[in-house]
Amino acid sequence: MKLLASLLITAALAASAVSVFAQEAAPKAAAAKVAKPDLAKGEASYTAVCAACHGADGNSGTPANPKLAQQHPEYLVKQLQEFKSGKRANAVMSGMAATLSPDDMKNIAYWLSSKAAKPGFAKDKELVALGESIYRGGIAERQISACSGCHSPNGAGIPVQYPRLSGQHADYTAAQLTGFRDGVRKNALQMTQVAAKLNDREIKAVSDYIAGLR
Ligand code: HEC
Ligand code: HEC
Repeated sequence: MKLLASLLITAALAASAVSVFAQEAAPKAAAAKVAKPDLAKGEASYTAVCAACHGADGNSGTPANPKLAQQHPEYLVKQLQEFKSGKRANAVMSGMAATLSPDDMKNIAYWLSSKAAKPGFAKDKELVALGESIYRGGIAERQISACSGCHSPNGAGIPVQYPRLSGQHADYTAAQLTGFRDGVRKNALQMTQVAAKLNDREIKAVSDYIAGLR
């Protein structure tokens, strides 16, 4: 009996110790959740791993690698989470995102959003007018929405949902639109619906227009 009683007391003490610990830990966990992003850490991780493909300041010079500078941080974090979970499929980026913690993602994303995007240029004189009309007005007779409605007239996007597009490499934009249309990129239903009705020529035109948009 004595042994049982002392065991019970030990258990009670242990339980109260746990609850004291839980009470102390709770505010700390809450504080960590709203902690400010650490831009210096973000820059360091970005420079070590990502800059080789996306450019030192997030302005990638390679058409297949997207520019990331000045992008909304919430959009960047969403993409990194989805590369990691496999919701957005890309062999290179899934491997990159797999090594990032939620804090790494946040730190890198906020640092990138603080960098200025360098403007780009439209190159296809023949198609740019078609691109402009799709971007600004959509294609009414085929129920294709104007891009500007969600991505804003100058392509700066609308935080937090609608990403910045202006100045992006046309090759990258065209690859994403084709990916949405063909079911390769499946992480945004709205864009799957928009891209579903675009043909290759329209994708080329609007992507070229977006590259020069500012
Ligand atoms: C080997 C080259 C390479 C490296 C290194 C790399 N990326 Fe990427 N990244 C790409 C490519 C290519 C894409 C386009 C993927 C696609 O087509 O879906 C991409 C896409 C992205 C996107 C999506 C952008 C958008 O507009 O939707 C983000 C965000 C991103 N990378 C962040 C990072 C971060 C952060 C790192 C470092 C941890 C990194 N990348 C390292 C090549 C690279
Ligand atoms: C109804 C709102 C809506 C409309 C209209 C719309 N978009 Fe989007 N678009 C989105 C959303 C939301 C995303 C973010 C997807 C994600 O979270 O992965 C997006 C993402 C994109 C991306 C991927 C950007 C990147 O960096 O990878 C491209 C490219 C794009 N849109 C182009 C267009 C074009 C071109 C049009 C017009 C033909 C258009 N969008 C019309 C909502 C819209």
